[in-house]
Amino acid sequence: MEPGDLGEVLAIEDVSFPTPWSRALFLEEIDREFSDALVAVPREGGGVQGYSVCWTVADESHLLNIAVHPEARGQGVGAALLRECIRRGARAGAERIHLEVRAGNGAALKMYYREGFSHVGFRRGYYSDTGEDAILLSRDLKEPDAV
Ligand SMILES: CC(C)(COP(=O)(O)OP(=O)(O)OC[C@H]1O[C@@H](n2cnc3c(N)ncnc32)[C@H](O)[C@@H]1OP(=O)(O)O)[C@@H](O)C(=O)NCCC(=O)NCCS
Repeated sequence: MEPGDLGEVLAIEDVSFPTPWSRALFLEEIDREFSDALVAVPREGGGVQGYSVCWTVADESHLLNIAVHPEARGQGVGAALLRECIRRGARAGAERIHLEVRAGNGAALKMYYREGFSHVGFRRGYYSDTGEDAILLSRDLKEPDAV
């Protein structure tokens, strides 16, 4: 992700989340040494289809954000971003990746379970904007080539 991508990234962010991240927040992630901020673009060229932000600190990665343009969903873009986060985290020394997801987010849950994540916890009312519960998921990264 580069600052020049942020117009497209923010347009996707705004239609994807009840409390979207700001431009300033994305800029911080672009500059943060231990953050991988990625964009997905089609091989044949074109605009940003999706993006992800993942931290790797010591032996743990944490997926903070992932979204795909509504018109590009269901084509594997989200899974491709997730796999790249996993590859980069593993390369940087992470042994596990963690994330939180809204309990009602069926599309995201389906993607995470398919990509090898397991349920490790639950936080009631975690999302203050909607009061939704969070499901905590985690995946071992010791065999990154398995994805
Ligand atoms: C979650 C998200 C990133 C997935 O991206 P994507 O590019 O559509 O993901 P993929 O195509 O790789 O796979 C998604 C899986 O969910 C399924 N899916 C897609 N849209 C769905 C929907 N509306 N309801 C249920 N399942 C859905 C797909 O069928 C696919 O599973 P399958 O291939 O086994 O059938 C995307 O839906 C999104 O941007 N959502 C809004 C933001 C968000 O919720 N981010 C996650 C925060 S934790």
